[in-house]
Amino acid sequence: MTAAIETEDLSRRFGARLAVDGVTMTVPERAVYGFLGRNGAGKTTTLKMVLGLLRPTSGAVRVRGLDVARQRLAAARQIGALLEAHGFYGNLTGRENLSLTATLLGLGASEVERVLEVVEMRRDGHRKVGGYSLGMRQRLGLARAMLGAPPVLLLDEPTNGLDPDGIADMRRFLKSLPERTGATVLLSSHLLGEIEQVASHVGVVDAGRLVLEGELARLKADLAPELILRTGDDTRAVTLLLAKGRSPVAAETGLTVALRPGEDPDQAAAAITRLLVEGGAPVFAIGPRERSLEDIYRRVANSRQQQAEAA
Ligand SMILES: Nc1ncnc2c1ncn2[C@@H]1O[C@H](COP(=O)(O)OP(=O)(O)OP(=O)(O)O)[C@@H](O)[C@H]1O
Ligand SMILES: [Mg+2]
Repeated sequence: MTAAIETEDLSRRFGARLAVDGVTMTVPERAVYGFLGRNGAGKTTTLKMVLGLLRPTSGAVRVRGLDVARQRLAAARQIGALLEAHGFYGNLTGRENLSLTATLLGLGASEVERVLEVVEMRRDGHRKVGGYSLGMRQRLGLARAMLGAPPVLLLDEPTNGLDPDGIADMRRFLKSLPERTGATVLLSSHLLGEIEQVASHVGVVDAGRLVLEGELARLKADLAPELILRTGDDTRAVTLLLAKGRSPVAAETGLTVALRPGEDPDQAAAAITRLLVEGGAPVFAIGPRERSLEDIYRRVANSRQQQAEAA
């Protein structure tokens, strides 16, 4: 099956700086692909090359099989995008701004109303964009990206400037989009928690390099399982666990204990509970810890460090 987006050894240099360094990524059709990286990691630069707005120094991009260098317009027509700089006209209303794009795409007024409705902006559509809040501009940007229902949505930090309700709405919306419309979503973020809540797939970019890519569920499952527990006496609990050869680690919400290879989580929880209770440390809660993207990130960093030390 053709991927929604594929890059092949994609690089972009700005002077001496290699902003994107040999990125080969695959965004499957109908995925919500979270493109994760710190500030300056190269997310926006990559997205601009996917859109054909920035020419790669080397490498290639294909959007639904269309080569962006050779079939730029056909490829661009597959994508609706929301980038950092919206480029709206402040002295025009939200509706007028969308109408400009709709006209370029050969779409009518009803499509403008449809996308305004989707982002719940119909009531503010008559106001000038110059008077919009950051969150309203962001919603309008999403509405514009969706004009004509393109098969691929490319969203650079889409929850920027949204309030908690707006973020929750956006997440729900993006997450359900592939199932409802068959679309593919590529969204960038520097927030692990953000990506974790919406994405089916993840790509992690660090200093221009794609250091990890895959299905989120599989990446999580690959990590060694852990239990998390809350006790009435952590100091005592730690001593008891250490004496049994376990290595508890203090976490924000309690103590975490890694399972031994092949150990059953339920059996381990029962054994640890018995150990602590008999040893005088009451156990308030114990259970498997949900692995987060933070764990994945840390593991990548660790394995790279080990590689560097071995080299
Ligand atoms: N037009 C440009 N000229 C020179 N350097 C640039 C240009 N655009 C980006 N860079 C540099 O390329 C690197 C990657 O930038 P990019 O904007 O792609 O990062 P990002 O991952 O989107 O970061 P953020 O989370 O802050 O948006 C940075 O070091 C940045 O300074
Ligand atoms: Mg950026």
